[in-house]
Amino acid sequence: MTLPDALGVAFFVERMAETIIRRVHVQTKKKYLKDLTVKIGDLLFEMFISHQEIQERTRELAMKISNDDESLIFVPVMTGAFYFSSSFLSYYSRPYQICCVTTSSYKGTKSTGSVEIIHHKDPAIFEGKKVVILEDIIDTGLTVKELTRELYLNGAREVIVVAMLFKPGKLEHDIPLHSVGFEIGDEFVIGFGLDYNESGRYLDDIYQLK
Ligand code: IMP
Ligand code: MG
Repeated sequence: MTLPDALGVAFFVERMAETIIRRVHVQTKKKYLKDLTVKIGDLLFEMFISHQEIQERTRELAMKISNDDESLIFVPVMTGAFYFSSSFLSYYSRPYQICCVTTSSYKGTKSTGSVEIIHHKDPAIFEGKKVVILEDIIDTGLTVKELTRELYLNGAREVIVVAMLFKPGKLEHDIPLHSVGFEIGDEFVIGFGLDYNESGRYLDDIYQLK
């Protein structure tokens, strides 16, 4: 092959590579833009907090609590805090106990004003212990207030709350909030455990109502 032929082939290969890279880029961008909006049931939600931001902030919260050298019992509030708790505890660096509870207070995008609490273990486990409630989101604060009251009735020595999200504008109750991942406005959010009528929990990022 002569030098001009070789240069011609090299030029052709370079052009092909450029075309492929551009196509992949366009496809990725299209997919990304599509993922920025999701339809859950009858509502449209837009991207709000990315998975990476959630992970970075969750790690910081876990490191902060890891400085506490007491032995702790974590109480993830199911189902919403399932994803947040799982990440949080993977970053927590000391031995601990875990005791999930299930609560329910929301219907659609509104709070019902009453809280149902279901324990999955003998509540005697809390006797004399320092308890850390892990919650997905604090809205009016009613869920956490009721849960805190129950934990003290079950003999907990101290109860504190770590929440992934907090809506300060909606808070109506006095709660022992220790730390918060992100303070947000009053908007309804879904994803990373949070649901709209049990849908949307699976989303890796957090989305807000459009
Ligand atoms: P609170 O009792 O009013 O503080 O509400 C807390 C519970 O309501 C949370 O644990 C969530 O399960 C649910 N909740 C509150 N705000 C939202 C939201 O914006 N999206 C999804 N669930 C929410
Ligand atoms: Mg909840």
